Amino acid sequence: MKPKILVARALFPEVLERLQHTFEVESNQLDESWTAAQLIAKLQGKWGIYTMAGERIDAALLAACPQLKICANMAVGYNNFDLSAMSTAGVLGTNTPDVLTETTADFGFALLMATARRISESERFLRSGQWKKWRYDMFAGADIHGSTLAILGMGRIGQGIARRAALGFGMKVVYHNRSRLDAATEAQCQARYVGKEELLQSADHLVLVLPYSAASHHAIGGAELALMKPTATLVNIARGGIVDDVALAAALAAGKLAAAGLDVFEGEPEVHPDLLALRNVVLTPHIASASVPTRRAMADLAADNLIAFWTQGRALNALNAPA
Ligand code: GLV
Repeated sequence: MKPKILVARALFPEVLERLQHTFEVESNQLDESWTAAQLIAKLQGKWGIYTMAGERIDAALLAACPQLKICANMAVGYNNFDLSAMSTAGVLGTNTPDVLTETTADFGFALLMATARRISESERFLRSGQWKKWRYDMFAGADIHGSTLAILGMGRIGQGIARRAALGFGMKVVYHNRSRLDAATEAQCQARYVGKEELLQSADHLVLVLPYSAASHHAIGGAELALMKPTATLVNIARGGIVDDVALAAALAAGKLAAAGLDVFEGEPEVHPDLLALRNVVLTPHIASASVPTRRAMADLAADNLIAFWTQGRALNALNAPA
């Protein structure tokens, strides 16, 4: 008999079909938003769940779903998983690393350029019919080339951004990370390790690519923003909650920071009204990994994790070692 799985959100039909060869699949192609209680009800009798980083897997859910053995996230980030509760409950978590690294680094760079060069703001101006004549200082922004790029969180995606910056744009790259990279990787990225304070002070542009956890909650708040240059740009493609959105909006409104490019938000899909009110912010709806081939590769990899765990007893991207 095929084990039962729940696919919590809408998914590529071809990937659903692949899953159906191995599993009895309950899907959500209407992409309904379920409450925690509805998710628990749907999970009764299910061996696995295919999640998309929005579904919270915690001790309460695990206690109510004793048959659950695996949660496969279609995302590299997994702060929706309480991994320690999952390990205790004997439930495996998996994610989708590597396949999205370059696409996400591309987007980080795109958002940096759009923000520093005021692309969204100038397009809004043009579309609203305000462009009557050219002016010497019209939408003059900050340079990318030759400037200092500061990267907070130097994993695979951070390194991809560093390579683009150093090799493509002649930027000076500094980074801060929990642990320093080895010398060969630093040389390849042409990146210099600095303390967090120096990182913030030296940044012409700051890109955040660190994972979200209790330790990184509000890693960038009022005190950190106060260390930055008033001409600096901040880009967050990591997770909402790493930046204190209210403090950021206040710094931007007060001219203590030039501009921000944000793909992730505290409490998304809600966006704080103070951010929405600002002209010098580029806002995108959590799409850093959203190229068609990459989203498909992520979808396939999450499916592969479920299939490999059922057929071979081993997942490809295990995040924990359940009891
Ligand atoms: C997207 O945010 C991911 O973690 O893959």
